[in-house]
Amino acid sequence: MNHNSRLICIGTFVFMTMLVTEGVIAYSGGAPDSFTGAPGQGNCQTCHTNGSGDGALHIMLPASYLLSQTLTVTVELEDPGQWQWGFELTALDASGVKAGSFTITDPTHTQLSTNPPSFPDYVKQTSAGTYNGTADGPVTWEFLWNAPEDPAGPVTFYAAANASQNIGSPSGFNYVAQTTIAPRVAEVPAMSSAGLALLTALMIAVGILFVNYKVQPK
Ligand code: HEC
Repeated sequence: MNHNSRLICIGTFVFMTMLVTEGVIAYSGGAPDSFTGAPGQGNCQTCHTNGSGDGALHIMLPASYLLSQTLTVTVELEDPGQWQWGFELTALDASGVKAGSFTITDPTHTQLSTNPPSFPDYVKQTSAGTYNGTADGPVTWEFLWNAPEDPAGPVTFYAAANASQNIGSPSGFNYVAQTTIAPRVAEVPAMSSAGLALLTALMIAVGILFVNYKVQPK
């Protein structure tokens, strides 16, 4: 290695270290894509090697969705003894293709990584979204999911999460969770008995008017 390339090498290393320590590309501000524990993906444990924890990760969602409906998704994580938190979530149809889309409503704590149609999108925590210092949890992250417009099948939400102690290296305990929700057909609201009575009265009134009109002498 000649002098110049050694300098470039050292320079690159220093620059990368600065980026990480300055938080520019810190993992605490969101894990890389494709670590939700969905089929074929890794999860946080791929790098955070402490194993699974004694807390809990929940994905909270209604049990079903209407086409084009917007649902609130809440991810909840708790782990006794930990105080820094992170997650990543995606929504896939039965064949593993991205289902619907996400809308961020709390940009302080959550961010969205969108990809071309053939790749999933991911919601993750931001640096502030690690709720650093919140001992034991539970912490929650909330955002919206917009159901597909086309006839669609069941959608599975996959999430992976990590609970740690702000050590600055990939430590902490790991969680995965998944929830499947099914599409449902919009119900036609049944008419109440009061509504039915009103309709009947209206029809009788119209009938009387009509008969009266007919029998008017010319
Ligand atoms: C490709 C490796 C890799 C994967 C996968 C990964 N992390 Fe990390 N993570 C790191 C490294 C390296 C650090 C330490 C440097 C830093 O804080 O940026 C870290 C730190 C963190 C921190 C800050 C905690 C601390 O003690 O510094 C959080 C929060 C975090 N990761 C969340 C996650 C979550 C949630 C996932 C899974 C969805 C995940 N990470 C997956 C490499 C990874």
